[in-house]
Amino acid sequence: MDKQKKDIFIGGAWPYANYYLHVGHLAALLPGDILAKYYRGKGDNVIYVSGSDCHGTPITERARKEGVSPKEIATHYHEEFVKTFNNLGFEYDKYSSTMSNNHQQYVEEQFKKMVENGYIYEKEELQDYCDKCEKFLSDREIEGTCSHCGGKSTGDQCEVCGDSLDSTEVLDKHCKKCGSSTVMRQNKHLYFRLTDFKDKLQELINNNKTTWRKNALGEAQKYIDMGLVDRAATRQLDWGVPVPVDGYEDKRIYVWIEAVLGYLSVGKEVAEKIGINFDEFMSSNNKNLSTYYVHGKDNIPFHTTIYPALLMSLKNNYALPDYIVSSAYVNLNHEKMSKTKGNLITVNELLEMFDSDTLRFYFSFKGPEVNDMNCSIEDIVQTHNKFLVGMLGNFVNRNLSFINKKFDGEIKQGIIDENIKTATQKSMKLIGKYFEKGEIKNATIQIMEYIGLANKYYDSQQPWIQVKEDIDAFNNTTYTCTYMIANISNMIAPILPNGSKKIKHMLNLPNYKWDVQEIDGDYKIQDLQILYDRIDEKKMNYDDLNSESNSKKVRNK
Ligand code: MF3
Ligand code: ZN
Repeated sequence: MDKQKKDIFIGGAWPYANYYLHVGHLAALLPGDILAKYYRGKGDNVIYVSGSDCHGTPITERARKEGVSPKEIATHYHEEFVKTFNNLGFEYDKYSSTMSNNHQQYVEEQFKKMVENGYIYEKEELQDYCDKCEKFLSDREIEGTCSHCGGKSTGDQCEVCGDSLDSTEVLDKHCKKCGSSTVMRQNKHLYFRLTDFKDKLQELINNNKTTWRKNALGEAQKYIDMGLVDRAATRQLDWGVPVPVDGYEDKRIYVWIEAVLGYLSVGKEVAEKIGINFDEFMSSNNKNLSTYYVHGKDNIPFHTTIYPALLMSLKNNYALPDYIVSSAYVNLNHEKMSKTKGNLITVNELLEMFDSDTLRFYFSFKGPEVNDMNCSIEDIVQTHNKFLVGMLGNFVNRNLSFINKKFDGEIKQGIIDENIKTATQKSMKLIGKYFEKGEIKNATIQIMEYIGLANKYYDSQQPWIQVKEDIDAFNNTTYTCTYMIANISNMIAPILPNGSKKIKHMLNLPNYKWDVQEIDGDYKIQDLQILYDRIDEKKMNYDDLNSESNSKKVRNK
């Protein structure tokens, strides 16, 4: 291996544990796993972490609707996420949860630091209070009348016309629980001085013009241009991480400030386990370090402004995000995905229909890297058949089946074509460069081009004729193809781990490393199998995706 090992930190976004993972999550989070597999293959020091985001209104709201506790909801979906990520072949170094003791402790510690460093201040504001229940009410705990349409509303949104309302636009407010009219009282909250970091955040954008995805640069700039404001750091809730400040016992830390710190709480946990000093690893003085943050477009402002500002406020001298790998949206059959419309496919449903490699390939090759993508079951089937079966599977299987049939699986050492060797080295380099930039789609295209070249080479050599006329030429062709198959098994490993392992097994090749795979001596094919089966489009049951399985709920216990 060349050069020194690199340090790689990869933070995958923490999905809210309030519903099953859907195709949007898969498209947005897949690049993180691909990067981790790529860098591990190079032998670098990788810390790849994520977890379930278990606090905040998304979870409390769902719990309220289903009549169970937030903890039950979060625990149920967290366990689901762990299974689903496993079935997708994701290999986090640790997939945690914001409910873990480690995380909660870490966040409390870091919050205290932010207070000590002067980035948190208290502000009083008028808020609705219930005298009978003796508590301040969150918007969801208030019921009232919408001043726009006269319909029933919560404290911040009308349930009839859907308008969002500020507190003066809700009339006749009363406590949802006991029915008493609310009164306005002074309530205190803690605020984070985001505005202090305006110049530093602008500098961060300017410094990362070539490494952050375009949509990240655009959204971050827009967010700054709209005028940054200090962010509330506490919420009137009883579900979340407690605020480590006296007098805030009835409040919790704002979920976005809390959850993003999970990258560090879990990163540190992983580092300690493998004997790495996390402070040195994450240090902005660590010239060997690259950090990647992988998420969907709606998460951009949090990862490009709030999170970096938090990092600066901690004064830990931690590196700011180098790569923002932010995906656009997935539309389904040309419609916006929406749970309420029933137009949403969960990853579990896809995994019932397809092998994980099929899905990983589809979202690598067609993912919403630059623009929104349109996803349909037909398209997944066609993409699988055309590329995994028609190109990759075809090249591997036509070679290996032929040898298996004619020579009982014996591959004799031959001379590897020099042009092919050069092309292989070049492709490997180029694909690696794309991976490192987070350009998964370009990497995938490059891999397919290499496989295209392999098929072309095979056709031009006509080994089915060589075998009869010139056995040495045949052996050279076969050996060159074996060399390409071996290299393909490395190239595809970050995206198609199952396919890669199958090839390695059939040819008894060493485990995946991100490097040119040299081959030497004779080979013997074992357990010949079809790499990817063709999917019969007519046999696909599109009705599998009707709303029945979309409405699974956590049962009342
Ligand atoms: N839970 C958020 C969402 O699903 C993402 C949080 S990413 C985090 O949009 F790392 F900040 F937690
Ligand atoms: Zn009340």
